[in-house]
Amino acid sequence: MREKIEQLRREIDDHNYRYYVLNDPLIGDYEFDALLRELQRLEEAHPEFADPDSPTQRVGSDTANAFETVEHRYPMLSLSNTYSMDEIREFDARVRKEVGEAEYVCELKFDGTAIGLTYENGRLARAVTRGDGTRGDDVTANVRTIRTVPLRLKGEGFPPQFEIRGEIFMPLGSFERLNREREDIGEAPFANPRNAAAGSLKLQSSAEAARRELDCTLYSMVGENLPFSTHLESLEKARTWGFKISDAMALCRDMEEIDAFIRHWDTARKTLPFATDGVVIKVNDFALRNRLGFTAKAPRWAVAYKFKAERALTRLLSVDFQVGRTGAVTPVANLEPVLLAGTVVKRASLHNAEQIALLDIRLGDGVYVEKGGEIIPKITGVDLDSRPEGSRPFEFVARCPECGTELVKYEGEARHYCPNQSHCPPQIVGRIVHFISRKAMNIDGLGDETVQLLYDSGLVADAADLYDLRRELLAVLPRLGEKSADNIINSIEKSKQVPFARVLFAIGIRFVGEATARNLAAQFRSIDELMAATTEELVAAEEVGEKIAVSIADFFRDETARRLVARLREKGLRFEAEEKALSSDALGGLRFVISGTFARHSRDRLKELIEQHGGRHTGSVSANTDFLLAGDNIGPAKLTKARKLGVRIIDETEFESMIAGGTAVAETPSRSASSPVSAEKLQKNEAAEEIKPVQTSLFE
Ligand code: IVH
Repeated sequence: MREKIEQLRREIDDHNYRYYVLNDPLIGDYEFDALLRELQRLEEAHPEFADPDSPTQRVGSDTANAFETVEHRYPMLSLSNTYSMDEIREFDARVRKEVGEAEYVCELKFDGTAIGLTYENGRLARAVTRGDGTRGDDVTANVRTIRTVPLRLKGEGFPPQFEIRGEIFMPLGSFERLNREREDIGEAPFANPRNAAAGSLKLQSSAEAARRELDCTLYSMVGENLPFSTHLESLEKARTWGFKISDAMALCRDMEEIDAFIRHWDTARKTLPFATDGVVIKVNDFALRNRLGFTAKAPRWAVAYKFKAERALTRLLSVDFQVGRTGAVTPVANLEPVLLAGTVVKRASLHNAEQIALLDIRLGDGVYVEKGGEIIPKITGVDLDSRPEGSRPFEFVARCPECGTELVKYEGEARHYCPNQSHCPPQIVGRIVHFISRKAMNIDGLGDETVQLLYDSGLVADAADLYDLRRELLAVLPRLGEKSADNIINSIEKSKQVPFARVLFAIGIRFVGEATARNLAAQFRSIDELMAATTEELVAAEEVGEKIAVSIADFFRDETARRLVARLREKGLRFEAEEKALSSDALGGLRFVISGTFARHSRDRLKELIEQHGGRHTGSVSANTDFLLAGDNIGPAKLTKARKLGVRIIDETEFESMIAGGTAVAETPSRSASSPVSAEKLQKNEAAEEIKPVQTSLFE
């Protein structure tokens, strides 16, 4: 069985590699999912063959990440940057003066966040951010979810231990999607894909990081005694081990070739699905690099040429104020149309009042518009020379342009909000549009325009009204016919089966995104429990900070929101979580603390197994703890405390035998008979001889 599981893992790893790295899949999504499900099934049936590097573990977990600070074995330096070809020529002249002839490798400069990956015996051991160059954060749990980062290397010839560095980035499509989702729940969007990638690496939940669709390109091997003599050779080898190495790379022998590479990519990069901000020029030969050495901050053997951001000068004609679902008011500039990076730009985001004041943007001004990594062009400056006479500083609207209510600013927020949640039309319509969206109630057939129409015609004033809609009424609306009316009614009916977590997301509590809603549903189990929770209880829940807790409490204090929930409940929507089916009750009610690292299971997987078999896990050892599940390098404090309190200490193998009994229990209802180590036997102070403490000398 072990061989079969291993074989399946290799096969899935290979399909992943072909799909994500080579862009050349052999099989379709359906077949791939079937393989993955088969592996999941086998792994669940055989927890003894678990492996944290298995492709099933790429989904991450909701356990809070710790992000320990780690010292870099080799400092992570930066590059000297320039915008001028003359300075590249000077760089080349310096290199030649120092070492004579030299060949260069030109590469794209990826606009993401730097990462150092350490591999030990072909397995990913650690992923560390650049930090201050000397020390970075250990973000391994999140990096493990990136499909282009191999967890186990392919091929042969890799050193037993080495570090490879590169860039983690968020592709433009994923960036756009993420920002749309953020705006939808009232979170400020990320300014650019670089910030989005850096922010995603620091997420507490690796399950959420997995959903961020990050990507990783590698561009340098570091270490002494590497078995290569050139950079190009090292990357070509790394490619055969499964790493994603960019194809946009060339060996250049002189300035002319460097110049051609830069000119080509300055245009061609606009068609790439990710952001780049320049070209890096590196000496290819490692021996020559050693002779050139480093300055305090950067290598003398490399330099970065930065592309100029594309910029155009145009005129600010007027400013519109858009009111979103959460009441956030966004100023949008109407511009004299201008050609920028191949498209005609007529509108640009002005972000918020602070940004406008900072740049002192005034109506009628000549303004610079830029397209960086951002999708929506932004105004980056004002041409003061062409400012019309008598212009006055821009005044942000004081009242909501839609409903006339006085705008407010919340502490720590740059944006203005319309507080009239209950009666401001775009907020009402926006909330209904959010309610029916795919990740919420997933009601088909109703687009933004139809919702607006239903609202304008007085048929729907809130989400609960959707459940009173009748087919005859819908069928006579413009652009709808009988068929779409049927479709909508069916879809509304079907939405009553949507699980609690998504209903919680759908009702639109500010800052409660999809992942937070899932967490809240899992922890509070029902809307009643959630409504009854105090702010302290909310903050104590996993992944809920002060900001979210206050927003939840505010939401349920609001009379309109409470009425909406009550009416939706009457219509039959789910406001309680379903009980998860347990694999067994072998650990029924037992409390575990997990500490250290384990050979066969990740800590997250162990937590899952405990839950699946009816047990509970907590972070710290107390008198209530039944077992300390101890791995390697366990914290001495936990161990001492466990001994003092008489908590039993078990290792991974012993834990497996506890739940292996449990699997049999699940199949036969008379549980104690069939289970070698039954739950009853494991109750505290009994059968102590069956559970041997781990070798404590290891830890002392
Ligand atoms: S080589 C000694 N190659 O640019 C530094 N860096 O400004 C060697 N970057 O921190 C770095 N693309 O995050 C290198 N093809 C590339 C790169 C690249 C992007 C980033 C990297 C580094 C920063 C330096």
